Amino acid sequence: MSSLISDTEALTKKITAIKHKRLSAWVEELAQLCKPDRVQWCDGSQAEYQAMLQLMVLTGSAIWLANDKRPNSILVRSTPGDVARVEDRTFICSRTQDEAGPTNNWAEPAKMKEKLRGLFAGAMTGRTMYVIPYSMGPIGSPIANIGVELSDSPYVVANMHIMARVGTRVLEVLGSDGDFVRGLHSVGAPLGANQEDSAWPNNAQAKYICHFPETREVWSFGSGYGGNALLGKKCHALRIASVQARDEGWMAEHMLILKMTSPDGKVKYITGAFPSACGKTNLSMMIPSIPGWKVETIGDDIAWMKFGIDGRLYAINPENGFFGVAPGTSMKSNPNAMLTATKDSIFTNCAMTLDEDVWWEQMTAEKPAELIDWLRRPWTPSSGRKAAHPNARFTVPASQCPCIAPEWEDPKGVPIDAILFGGRRAGVVPLVTESFSWQHGTFLGAIVTSETTAAITGKVGELRRDPMAMLAFCGYNMGDYYAHFLKMGSRPGAKLPKIFYVNWFRTDNNGKFLWPGYSENSRVLKWIFERCDEKAHAVDTPIGRLPEPADLDTKGLEIPAADIAKLLSVDVEGWHAELPSIQEHFARFGSHLPEELNREVRELETRLWKAKK
Ligand code: OXD
Ligand code: MN
Repeated sequence: MSSLISDTEALTKKITAIKHKRLSAWVEELAQLCKPDRVQWCDGSQAEYQAMLQLMVLTGSAIWLANDKRPNSILVRSTPGDVARVEDRTFICSRTQDEAGPTNNWAEPAKMKEKLRGLFAGAMTGRTMYVIPYSMGPIGSPIANIGVELSDSPYVVANMHIMARVGTRVLEVLGSDGDFVRGLHSVGAPLGANQEDSAWPNNAQAKYICHFPETREVWSFGSGYGGNALLGKKCHALRIASVQARDEGWMAEHMLILKMTSPDGKVKYITGAFPSACGKTNLSMMIPSIPGWKVETIGDDIAWMKFGIDGRLYAINPENGFFGVAPGTSMKSNPNAMLTATKDSIFTNCAMTLDEDVWWEQMTAEKPAELIDWLRRPWTPSSGRKAAHPNARFTVPASQCPCIAPEWEDPKGVPIDAILFGGRRAGVVPLVTESFSWQHGTFLGAIVTSETTAAITGKVGELRRDPMAMLAFCGYNMGDYYAHFLKMGSRPGAKLPKIFYVNWFRTDNNGKFLWPGYSENSRVLKWIFERCDEKAHAVDTPIGRLPEPADLDTKGLEIPAADIAKLLSVDVEGWHAELPSIQEHFARFGSHLPEELNREVRELETRLWKAKK
């Protein structure tokens, strides 16, 4: 071991010529704990990326896809026990349970560390510990933040190459004493001297995704999948960053960022918070159905926002790639995502065609006659099961996206005009509602309810409150998070974005979607765009400001007028019936709930009563 560690030190010198003593001491300490066979500092080069892909292929974890169909792309298949984020195994280990709040699993930090030390002891034996320095956000941006992930998974290294900016250039910015978020990850599957590795090493008995907000650390054990293992994404950019943002006066949000340009060349930047697998990627890359309008992508999942000196809120996308849900993505639903994933991509848990390409449900109008499903079994349309896992993913570089906005890496970010909140609701919530104020918008965000999807393990289709789509990602007490949101809005001199609540998923009595969604959502975005300049008409209703049917551009859209009327109607009874569950939801936060939100409930109730009379 010791010779390996000193090799590492030599490599550190070679790579950076900068000595970051805290960093090398930390790597050394954890290498002593995890006992890998080797330690490799990642330089972020193309050669390193290719070596990771090749390693995965040669060890049986991945398969090359046909080069004439998906150049330089691989398919990786996990095991049924490791296919999604594990919310029940995710912990916020803040000093007190009260600081983690009622929506997070909490564990006492010292006790959890002790347990994890036991699990990590020797956990990397037979494997390589990769040291992955990464920047969330364009390197050197004043909004960006650096982390270092130690991982024993080549799959993680390759994905981090796509999803973050990694390697030597990050160490250079970190200098000799810069602060960084410390991430430790192991698949939790050490290898004995003569033990064969499995195609998807993970630990079926123990999975722990633990966050230590005070010390800005993440320790993740036992899973190799997505947000559990790529620590820059949910763990750092949301759970730890939300705490940093609260402490430093900025915002770390589960939001896409898009740029919208009107036919006369006016530009607005819009962020949108939607729970996992509710179409953020599709919305951020949409091709508007209304002539002359353009949408370009800045980000599809996370926004970090800081106030500029002009009082506007500026957002960056801290990520460098997209980790998108594959099923449902097609040339019809999201051609830009399909075109992004034509090369240099990693596919996980997709099905494979017999000519070595990937396939997933709804990718093509007709199902292929034969496939190898994600569990490596022969499949035909009559098999009676899905060929790809519902949470199958593509990992693709954002720079390959045909509609990426030229300014997507602007270090100062883009100024935000509107914030959308949304969920998957069959009833009650109209197609679009503009909030009366930032405070009212915070209230609307705080009561977002959505059906659960395959992005998390557990039941699919259950309604749950997912405030600001941050339920699974807020690293502290959600009541305090609401207070932080309100505080951001009361900043002196702030020129705030308007806040809207949207719902693409309202259905008729037979469960059929009333709104076609996808590119037709541009009609709603157009109304939002024009509301930002007070140019479109709206009516005040008990729940907020809504367009009347004539205010929405429905030219060329073949929808019965009654459906549009229903989509834009206020279900006074339905909202009234929902008040007790809103009160119950807020009561969970006890003294942490800002009084302003209770006031919003009372005012909503009064407005609904008046409307009933
Ligand atoms: C994601 C998620 O992967 O929200 O983005 O689950
Ligand atoms: Mn997400």
